Amino acid sequence: MEKNILVTYASRYGATKEIAEKIGEGLSEAGLQAEVVPIDGKRDLNAFRAIILGSAVYIGKWRPEGVEFLKANERALAGRPVWLFSSGPTGEGDPVELVEGQRLPPEVQLIADRIHPRDIAVFHGFINPAKINLIEKFAIKNVVKKPFGDFRDWNTITAWAAGIAEAVKNTSR
Ligand SMILES: Cc1cc2nc3c(=O)[nH]c(=O)nc-3n(C[C@H](O)[C@H](O)[C@H](O)COP(=O)(O)O)c2cc1C
Repeated sequence: MEKNILVTYASRYGATKEIAEKIGEGLSEAGLQAEVVPIDGKRDLNAFRAIILGSAVYIGKWRPEGVEFLKANERALAGRPVWLFSSGPTGEGDPVELVEGQRLPPEVQLIADRIHPRDIAVFHGFINPAKINLIEKFAIKNVVKKPFGDFRDWNTITAWAAGIAEAVKNTSR
C-alpha cells in the first residue's frame, strides 16, 4: 500500500512553495508522510495515497507547469483522491470573495471538472515588491489592482491540511 501523500506546487517567487510546505507540515503532524516537491510532471501518481496540487495565479492564470501537469495526468488524477489549491489574492477578507468566487482559472476549472477533486481551496498570497520585476509591478497596479504584501493565512492553511489528513485516514482502500 502507498504510504506517501504528494504535495506538489507551481510557484514563481516562493510564496506557493511555502504554502505547500505548510500543508506538508500539517500532514506530518497528523502522522502522515508527505513529499513536498515542485511540479515536474514525471511522477507515478499511483504511488501516492493522495495528491495535493497547487499553483500561484498570475493575471488570472495558473503557472504553465501546473496546467500542463493537470492536462498530462488528467486520467491518473481522476482515479485518485485529489485536492487543489490556488495561491493568489492579496488584500483583507475572504479570498474566495477576492477572486469573485472563481476558485480556479476557467481553463483549469474545465480540467478539474473531469478530475473531481475532493476540494478546491483559494489561499491568500504574497506579492513581494522586493522580488517582482518592473513589468509585474506595473501589472499589479494597473491590471490586478491588489495590494502588495504577505496576506497568507497560516491557520487556514493548517486547518485545510488537517481536514485532508482526516479524510485520507478515513479512506478505506
Ligand atoms: C504580475 C503578478 C500578477 C498577479 N496576478 C494575480 C491574479 O490575477 N490573481 C490573483 O489572485 N493573484 C495574482 N497575483 C498574486 C500572486 O498569485 C501571489 O502573490 C502568489 O502568492 C505568488 O506566489 P508565488 O510566489 O509562489 O509565485 C499576481 C502577482 C503578480 C506579481
